[in-house]
Amino acid sequence: MVEPQPILDPLTPAAIFLVATIDEGGEAVTRELLADLPGLRRSVGFRVPGSGLACIAGIGSEAWDRLFSGPKPAQLHEFPGYQGEKHQAPATPGDLLFHLKSETQDAAFELAMKIGERLAGAATIVDQTVGFRYFEQRDLLGFVDGTENPEGQLAAIAALVGDEDPEFTGGSYVIVQKYLHDLDSWKALSTTEQEKVIGRTKLDDFELPDADKPANSHVAVNDQDTNGNIVRANMPFGSVKDGEFGTYYIAYADDPAITENMLIRMFLGSADAAYDRILDFSTAVTGTSFFAPAAGFFDALPD
Ligand code: HEM
Repeated sequence: MVEPQPILDPLTPAAIFLVATIDEGGEAVTRELLADLPGLRRSVGFRVPGSGLACIAGIGSEAWDRLFSGPKPAQLHEFPGYQGEKHQAPATPGDLLFHLKSETQDAAFELAMKIGERLAGAATIVDQTVGFRYFEQRDLLGFVDGTENPEGQLAAIAALVGDEDPEFTGGSYVIVQKYLHDLDSWKALSTTEQEKVIGRTKLDDFELPDADKPANSHVAVNDQDTNGNIVRANMPFGSVKDGEFGTYYIAYADDPAITENMLIRMFLGSADAAYDRILDFSTAVTGTSFFAPAAGFFDALPD
């Protein structure tokens, strides 16, 4: 039985997302950190009982070629980026992803600091996003986010590579995008209008009946019955000082094409809708793809 990284663990109140690029010549130090990561997580997490500290590490396509000499996950490639008529999803640099999850902020922050220390001089952190749970798992648009995620065995089937790529069974393709919300425009909408943008009710989080759900609503565009299932672990983030409020979108899938097809429908449109209406209120500012191999992969690397 191959143990995955803690991709399927439940969402926590605290999360930190680090994206880094590997500096020239930084490969050996990066490999050492990846091999030591489980031990670092244990050292930090054990001191904060109940933190449930978890860390998932992902590797980008070009970085994979630089770091490892063996086989490569069959579907691993750089994030393509999408240029729609009205909205765009930029592709931005990133060789390494660290997705830290914790019940408490202290443990996540300590592990993020350790990762930063170990990578100093070998890699550059290009983004750090500190996510937090907002009320009942709501995003900063005020809607509950994550409800229709597959659960239990279905989540494992959706997120984890199976027998189709035997070298990488238990791994997962990860896509991250940082979205900034235009909260002034959003708040100018009535609740009924907001519900038509998302496709669910705001207070109690029920899916709108088909007759009331516009084809360009976020839920109609991304409907998993037609697109396939992914496991999302989005977190809100924000800065009052900078007036920045957003959603860190992160999705795990056994095939990156499932998430990419959703992005194509959202940004480039489909026969049903010109684009996802959520994009009139949320702008993608980053976009990067990674592969998170099964838990033992980094331990087994030759020195
Ligand atoms: C559903 C928010 C970006 C895929 C939802 C829901 C909310 C939401 C509130 C309804 C509740 C739920 O089932 O989770 C957001 C926000 C985003 C964002 C605030 C960024 C601004 C994306 C992106 C994708 C995506 C980029 C795909 C590439 C989905 C899927 C569902 C969903 C698959 C479930 C659809 C269903 O089967 O009912 N999202 N989302 N979301 N979202 Fe997003």
